[in-house]
Amino acid sequence: MSPFLMTRTLPEHATEADLRADVLHGLTRTPKALPPKWFYDARGSELFEEITRLPEYYPTRAEREILLARAPEIADATGARTLVELGSGSSEKTRHLIEALPGLHSYVPVDVSESALTRAAEALLADHPGLSVHALIADFTRGLALPGTPGPRLAAFLGGTIGNLLPAERTAFLKSVRSLLSPGDALLLGTDLVKDEATLVAAYDDARGVTAAFNKNVLAVMNRELDADFEPDDFDHVARWDREQEWIEMRLRARTALTVKIRELDLVVHFEAGEEMRTEVSAKFRQEGVRAELAGAGLALTQWWTDEAGRFALSLATAV
Ligand code: SAH
Ligand code: TRP
Repeated sequence: MSPFLMTRTLPEHATEADLRADVLHGLTRTPKALPPKWFYDARGSELFEEITRLPEYYPTRAEREILLARAPEIADATGARTLVELGSGSSEKTRHLIEALPGLHSYVPVDVSESALTRAAEALLADHPGLSVHALIADFTRGLALPGTPGPRLAAFLGGTIGNLLPAERTAFLKSVRSLLSPGDALLLGTDLVKDEATLVAAYDDARGVTAAFNKNVLAVMNRELDADFEPDDFDHVARWDREQEWIEMRLRARTALTVKIRELDLVVHFEAGEEMRTEVSAKFRQEGVRAELAGAGLALTQWWTDEAGRFALSLATAV
């Protein structure tokens, strides 16, 4: 196998300091809430992979269908020599894009999960030994410094992960993505679309309970990293459609009144019986909203593709 480069732009202890700050802030506010990036330790990344194969979780299959159908058009439109992927995870779908880009020189996957990056880079290089892979362990909501690879650049943000950011975070995020691009470079954005409530809720509350285990994994992360004593069985997984905000909201609901000690923070947290803590939102989109958010960041929507069933969209936008 060819070697790949891996750069950590998160300082060695930044993750820990960030986690402490997020947990302290999130568990002392009302209502309690945690940011979603803490789901993805090695176990969390594995559970997410399992989610992508669930019968109820249609976004991965829908997005793959669009990528397979449109990869040649994306290649023609962008002529990309560098592909930067934010929140790349397993890079499994990205493979179709990589294989369709004839002039591709470098692939730069960016993720907070080191284990996901390592596995993805090894799997890709086994099949594409000539590709230059430079993985970045980084938080895409912070400023990113990209390696000096050749343009044109194509940035990809797939999986509907943009929906896991709150509206104000999305605005800041899209501007920071735009700042990584030169005029004429492109962004490929995957967004899940507004649809009937039953389909949406089932995708985030599957019959086998994999999503529930994924949601509760954040408790295991706090237990391990912050010496907390959360008992996963004390909480229920909740997925609710918020019709006003047009997002799915994931929560953990305390089954009884309980108290948790977070020793590393010298913090004792009380939950009322039935109290819910928000762990993630997953916003669903419409074309006009996506177009407007992109335009606000200096990105002009040039293509909008959906799967046959109209569940999910891929947008191609050009940096102006
Ligand atoms: N793109 C893949 C994975 C989506 S899951 C797919 O479409 O299937 C979201 C991915 O983003 C995970 O791999 C997670 O580790 C990563 N991630 C979440 N928050 C992040 C952040 N703030 N910075 C970098 N990566 C992040
Ligand atoms: N980006 C994915 C989505 O919003 C992440 C995700 C899927 C997720 N299932 C989840 C996050 C369950 C938390 C809980 O679809």
